[in-house]
Amino acid sequence: MEFSTKTAAPESIQVDCLAVGVFEDKGMSPSARRVDRATQGAIRAAMASGDMKGKRGTFLLLRSLRGVRCARLALVGLGKSTDLGDKAFSEAVAATVRGCGAGVATLAFAAGDWKVLDRSPSWAARALVAAARATRFHSDELKTKASRGERQNGKPLRIFWLTEQRDRELQGALRQGQAIANGVELAKRLGNLPANVCTPEFLAGQARNLAREWRLRVQVLDRRRIAALRMGSFLSVTRGSDQAPRFIVLRYPGAGDRAFARPIALVGKGITFDSGGISLKPGAQMDEMKFDMCGAAAVLGTIRAIAELKLRINVVGVVPACENLPSGHATKPGDIVTSMSGQTIEILNTDAEGRLILCDALTYVQRFHPAAIIDIATLTGACVVALGNVHSGLFSKDEALAAELLSAAKAAGDSAWRMPLDEDYQEQLKSNFADMANIGLAGNAGAVTAACFLSRFVKDQRWAHLDIAGTAYRGGPAKGATGRPVPLLTEFVLSRAA
Ligand code: BES
Ligand code: MN
Ligand code: ZN
Repeated sequence: MEFSTKTAAPESIQVDCLAVGVFEDKGMSPSARRVDRATQGAIRAAMASGDMKGKRGTFLLLRSLRGVRCARLALVGLGKSTDLGDKAFSEAVAATVRGCGAGVATLAFAAGDWKVLDRSPSWAARALVAAARATRFHSDELKTKASRGERQNGKPLRIFWLTEQRDRELQGALRQGQAIANGVELAKRLGNLPANVCTPEFLAGQARNLAREWRLRVQVLDRRRIAALRMGSFLSVTRGSDQAPRFIVLRYPGAGDRAFARPIALVGKGITFDSGGISLKPGAQMDEMKFDMCGAAAVLGTIRAIAELKLRINVVGVVPACENLPSGHATKPGDIVTSMSGQTIEILNTDAEGRLILCDALTYVQRFHPAAIIDIATLTGACVVALGNVHSGLFSKDEALAAELLSAAKAAGDSAWRMPLDEDYQEQLKSNFADMANIGLAGNAGAVTAACFLSRFVKDQRWAHLDIAGTAYRGGPAKGATGRPVPLLTEFVLSRAA
């Protein structure tokens, strides 16, 4: 899918489909009015017939109109003109891309029609790309050709964002949107791949591919080198699995200095399958635990986006990757391990494994003296209970960093909600036999105690934790990875690089 701006009048543009907005209260948008005049009332007639009343979510395709040069005219209901919000905008774009017809290869939107509440024209251009790309995205690389063909995908689309004057800022916004969408789609693809394909070594291969394509530096540590670093906590999780663990370090040296000074560090949970281990999970929906590497996928997707945007900033991505499975070799409840930091951990529940791999990654990443550390993890079911699939959970003791991330989340339309992280919760992690337990004693506030656990490995660091258990993927009939929080993270790095 390609996107570009174009300066042309709506009534004279030559495309397979032109989309114009119709409002419930104000009727025709400015461009709709122009097209209506050129067609001598085609839109007015459609509205008078009752086929298009401007209701949000409605869509009507008109064909072979005289007086205009587009083969199809799409009337898109936008609801009340005063409340075209983020969601209504994305839905309208999606409805248009879906409904414009499989024969459409060129589709134009009149940019001026789509004024989104509290959002800039550049924002709309980026959101256009996100919504259009999401509509056409499918994870079907593991479907056979025959069953892939059942889906009517249409032709490759070229989308034009029509403006009155040449606008280089909008052109740039479309390019940004593309880079972010490329990152989101990488994260979705990796998330959706099953655990028998997307293994720790597969993730390492993906990092190597990115490095080759975007001139990044990559290091992949195997079990021997992980052991040499004394990552006893990480290694305790991988013990029950026959898949070799991988510790992936991917560097984007955008600031151009040899020293790789003060990078932003992104640490992603890369559990390629989480059965719970000896503390085995129940069977229902266990397949969804292939999504337990979505934090890792978000790190790779964000770095891809940043590299494409050529941001002048250093970023390091760190991904501890392994499976969490039961076996005769697996870690048992009650086992005590020593983390890379030297602190000992009593593993009371082998299903609380994300924190066990992340704590060693957090210790490791400090060797880069990062300007900020952000870890991203499908860490707790408790976070899903607290926030559902709307907001990612944001935990940080650093007020400035938390504010920065929240504003990036808002700007990107990829929301996060601040959660508490005070010392009062720490006592739940007491162990009689080790420095700490890996689960909270009381069993409540599970998302917070998990964050508290991680906080013990980042003393005196600018650090934030994103729990994406509810936002990284969806279950049910629309099952699939969402690519979140790649937009949030990319926006955060973008604003740091600015
Ligand atoms: N990967 C899960 C968290 C999860 C649960 C993500 C549901 C998405 C949906 C994590 O490893 C886990 O199992 N956490 C446990 C922690 C508990 C044992 C303290 C949980 O949330 O139940
Ligand atoms: Mn688990
Ligand atoms: Zn997990």
